[in-house]
Amino acid sequence: MIEQQLWHPVTASHQVRHEPVACSLLGQPLVLWREHTHDGARVHAWADRCPHRGARLSLGRVLIGVHGARLECPYHGWQFGAGDGRCQHIPAAPDFVPPPAHRTTVFEAREQHGLIWVRLQAPSHALSAEFADPPAFAQSEDTTWRTVLCGPYELNTSAPRLVENFLDLSHFGFVHEGWLGERSHAQVQTGAVDEGTGLAGLVVREARAWQPRAYAGVEEGAWIAYRYDVPHPFAAILRKDATHGDPVSNAIALFIRPDGHELCTAWFAMATQGDPVTDQELIEFQDAVFAQDRPVVESQLPRALPVGRTAPITEVHGPADRVSSAYRRYLNRLGIALGTC
Ligand code: FES
Ligand SMILES: [Fe+2]
Repeated sequence: MIEQQLWHPVTASHQVRHEPVACSLLGQPLVLWREHTHDGARVHAWADRCPHRGARLSLGRVLIGVHGARLECPYHGWQFGAGDGRCQHIPAAPDFVPPPAHRTTVFEAREQHGLIWVRLQAPSHALSAEFADPPAFAQSEDTTWRTVLCGPYELNTSAPRLVENFLDLSHFGFVHEGWLGERSHAQVQTGAVDEGTGLAGLVVREARAWQPRAYAGVEEGAWIAYRYDVPHPFAAILRKDATHGDPVSNAIALFIRPDGHELCTAWFAMATQGDPVTDQELIEFQDAVFAQDRPVVESQLPRALPVGRTAPITEVHGPADRVSSAYRRYLNRLGIALGTC
């Protein structure tokens, strides 16, 4: 299953401090924990199950000692080493040297854009180049940009429905009237869609829509040009191309953890340059915009996105839906089954 071979965000970095944290990815229970080293704090993602008698490791605790960091199981206190998840110590039999099979299941984990990313399976050869890393969001690595993480937003719909909503400019005048659009300026220009080939994602340039209040802190309306990137089936990045002389630049990335066919958890990484509003105001603005999307997106049926995988469910399309059609083709090209039908 390709979904197992992709990087997914599982939780915000700041959620994992000194104690182990339980979460779940694609039905796999995980324990996340942090090893504080001299050069930072490496995060680990393991199966949340002790190989001894199946207790949840997330109920245990992190030990720091001369042998480095270990995770201690809550049941019999077996200690598992940070590097490879091998059992290093069994308190009830302290002279016993645990064999290599006494180990936890270790997954790949990374931190990027304020989120912890996990991959459950090594990618197949075909995928490895295209999805070697979590999706890039250049602004979050650039110190001249300020980034703020919004979310998590748990949503009763599929990840693809939410990505498609994010790519859709023509709902702005209705769902976000007075905020991101106006009924009287409902027309959009879908821009130039580069669908990519093979496993490459989509790029949409020069998409345009009218915005009465394009971002927090701005009061007057304007035609805004957008660039969209879809580098991953469950992630998309929107950049507002600042018009000449505009003192404010904005970019926003949507990162989603698919939690099933009809459930997902989303975060937005907002990046701004030159915007005087506070972090809290940015978060409140995003929360308010998302609260407008939520009832409509959760009302869409089926919750899985119809991409033509299973026959009878169809939706009809208008000329302003070119980007959404391209996204559906991208999911088909990759063979994404989770959250599609
Ligand atoms: S169940 Fe984990 S140490 Fe026994
Ligand atoms: Fe929206």
